[in-house]
Amino acid sequence: MSLTYENYLKIRELVALQQVQSDPPEHDETLFIVIHQVYELWFKLLLHEMDRVKIQLTTDDLYGAVATFQRMRTVMKTLVSQLDILETMTPMGFNSFRARLESASGFQSAQFREFEFALGYKRESVLALHESNSAAHVALVKRFRERTVVDHFYDFLEQHGFDLPVELKNKDVAESTIAHPAVEEAVFRLYKEDRGVAILLELMTDFDEGLQEWRYRHVKMVERTIGMKIGTGGSSGAEFLRKTLFQPVFPDLWNVRYRL
Ligand code: HEM
Repeated sequence: MSLTYENYLKIRELVALQQVQSDPPEHDETLFIVIHQVYELWFKLLLHEMDRVKIQLTTDDLYGAVATFQRMRTVMKTLVSQLDILETMTPMGFNSFRARLESASGFQSAQFREFEFALGYKRESVLALHESNSAAHVALVKRFRERTVVDHFYDFLEQHGFDLPVELKNKDVAESTIAHPAVEEAVFRLYKEDRGVAILLELMTDFDEGLQEWRYRHVKMVERTIGMKIGTGGSSGAEFLRKTLFQPVFPDLWNVRYRL
């Protein structure tokens, strides 16, 4: 059989994946499923791009890292703007099938947690959310034990002549990123002395800001759709999500800004 649009992209299989739980089917549930599946595809791409940017940073491939971060921040902006589509669903529209979701929640998105881990936001407690030896658990454990984008960014700084302190070089990969004055100083000097690297630093900041925007827009969407109700995942809902706001994944890029 020759290759066609349909069999190359597995369109038949793809469009068969949106199976509503409501019976009779509630109109808005199809939107709800499609948008979550689209998010998961973008998460998949972001993880793929992050694997590439790590190598680019470690090998000091500046143009490559700029191109990859450009793509990643553009996907991030799309993730934010897509929430507009979901906000066309009213609280009544959501309520028409919400009970059918049982305890299912975006909170259980393994790829989102992989994404957080790969960026340096690590919490061992997240691993317990997935059954051990399931594909999700295996993927998460791998990311948990893997060096992060920030660890690879430290390699990049070393390639640019900055001798980072031993506590950063030998940092336990399972620990979350913490801001460090030596990184802030290196970033400060690069901003002042290397315009090419400054472009990369701005793209990384765009990406970080985009992720914070996504969290903010998601909370607002949650507030307007379910108000003060608890989440299907069992958390306090919007109140829980508000605690995740305004936390950068590249803290040194934000700390340095008052000096620039
Ligand atoms: C009507 C739409 C939505 C509502 C009402 C909603 C509600 C919530 C709530 C209440 C939580 C907190 C955990 C819980 O108790 O369930 C949560 C977490 C989460 N949701 Fe949504 N959500 C919606 C759409 C989405 C979409 C489209 C995505 C995209 C993948 C998403 C991804 C996530 C993620 C990743 C978390 C975990 C956030 C964290 O722990 O920092 N949600 N959501």
